[in-house]
Amino acid sequence: MRATAVAHPNIALIKYWGKSDIERNIPAVGSLSITLDGLTTTTAVSFNSDLEEDEFLLGGQAIPEMSGRVSRCLDLVRERVGAQTRARVESNNDFPTAAGLASSASGFAALVTAADAAMGVNIPQNELADMARRSSGSAARSLFGGFVELRLTPDGPLPTETRQILEPFDWPLRVAVAVTDAGPKEIGSTEGMVRTERTSPYYAGWVDTSEDYLAEARSAIARRDFEALAEVSESSCLKMHAVMLSARPGLVYWNGATVECIRKVRKLRADGVPVFFTVDAGPQVKAVCAPEAFDRVAAELAAVEGVSQVLASGLGEGARVVAS
Ligand code: DP6
Repeated sequence: MRATAVAHPNIALIKYWGKSDIERNIPAVGSLSITLDGLTTTTAVSFNSDLEEDEFLLGGQAIPEMSGRVSRCLDLVRERVGAQTRARVESNNDFPTAAGLASSASGFAALVTAADAAMGVNIPQNELADMARRSSGSAARSLFGGFVELRLTPDGPLPTETRQILEPFDWPLRVAVAVTDAGPKEIGSTEGMVRTERTSPYYAGWVDTSEDYLAEARSAIARRDFEALAEVSESSCLKMHAVMLSARPGLVYWNGATVECIRKVRKLRADGVPVFFTVDAGPQVKAVCAPEAFDRVAAELAAVEGVSQVLASGLGEGARVVAS
């Protein structure tokens, strides 16, 4: 009744922002991401009939404000199996939590994977992804490695379907993560999405254009066309931040160094360096580049004032069991 799983954060190139069903956490738009290998969440789950409540430790500390979400995620696995047993969950991230580095994505992907193995059920990967999606939309994508797409399937057996598009080694891009502020973000994704949907006059335009962006990105990936992927990814990122900024009150996730990093990446690409940027609901800038460009990109970002560190990553595998 015990298993340990690892999972990596993913970063969306075509972004998810907004929900069609808040209760069931169904995204309003599909999304497309790359899974990273340089950052890891390791989660051990042990079901124990002596426990009266689930226990959750992150980095060795009890996190009461997260434990409800962890329990609800475990409930999905328990319901699937018809079990009641409570669990002790110990999770560790080797990177800053809640700073726009998608710790909830790798966290819930590792959690469902470890819980399934600890129960000995072997739930299909797409179903595990949909369970992780209930806890955090982006978490579904961390079940898979390489390039991953989450599609909306309102007429299917599950409301979303997540699948791998390319293996990590099929197009081994690298990512430099410029950390401009390692503190927790001010407004969480769920609250930010609800506010945007309720108040932004541009929200409908954001949702309406998402399928075209996904099709463009899929095609760029199939052709390994870096320039095309760069253009559509940066546009998706800026379009998401535009709709965030147009909420009332506007959501400003960037700081000055975020903007300087974006400018730097654009200048590098204009000079012929194969690199593009993306930014999530936080101030860090992720620069996606061809492997041969990585050292130059990382050095240039490290030199930007306000960048405290640059994390290095390649593309990684999906969530997997490492011990049972
Ligand atoms: C900006 O997956 O954190 O990173 O479903 O409310 O938990 P919830 O949201 P979450 O949102 C991720 C938003 C994003 C873009 C993305 O990863 O697609």
